[in-house]
Amino acid sequence: MKVIYPGSFDPLTEGHMDIIKRLSNMFDEVIVAILNNENKNSLFTVEEREDIIEEAIREKKLTNISIHSFDGLLVNFAKDMDVKLVARGLRGVTDYEYEKNIARVNSTLYEGLETIFLLSNPSYSFVSSSGVREIAAFKGDVSAFVSPSVEKKIKEKFNY
Ligand code: PNS
Repeated sequence: MKVIYPGSFDPLTEGHMDIIKRLSNMFDEVIVAILNNENKNSLFTVEEREDIIEEAIREKKLTNISIHSFDGLLVNFAKDMDVKLVARGLRGVTDYEYEKNIARVNSTLYEGLETIFLLSNPSYSFVSSSGVREIAAFKGDVSAFVSPSVEKKIKEKFNY
């Protein structure tokens, strides 16, 4: 059974990696789907985000992960992949309020599409890509939130 784990991953955080690892134990294949939202003031290009995720899954020796990017609606990507299962992480009630609407919209657009939610590991419940981007913009220490390889890429980007 395959599951799609979609997101912006700009950049990949330890919170995302925790979800990817847990999904890889539960499913035959995890399709990490990067939203191609380059016009949205992204820090990393989609290609850079792909490379970062590839390196992180190699470091963790995960073998059942594939990495894709998609434009437009997630449901169209899910149809193209012939997969009717999407997974998202939930850090708390704010995520839940946002995610439940997206999940309902998606299942309305694509009948039978199910979204499952994994509660985030409490150690990462305060970690977000937007927080990492903000810390990085001020050349702050992001090491508690991202893997060493992501930290290296961030430091290259911001020259520190
Ligand atoms: O990491 P993010 O930014 O929280 O991920 C959000 C994502 C990419 C899962 C969501 O924005 C998405 O699926 N966008 C694609 C557009 C879409 O399908 N919208 C319909 C639901 S309202």
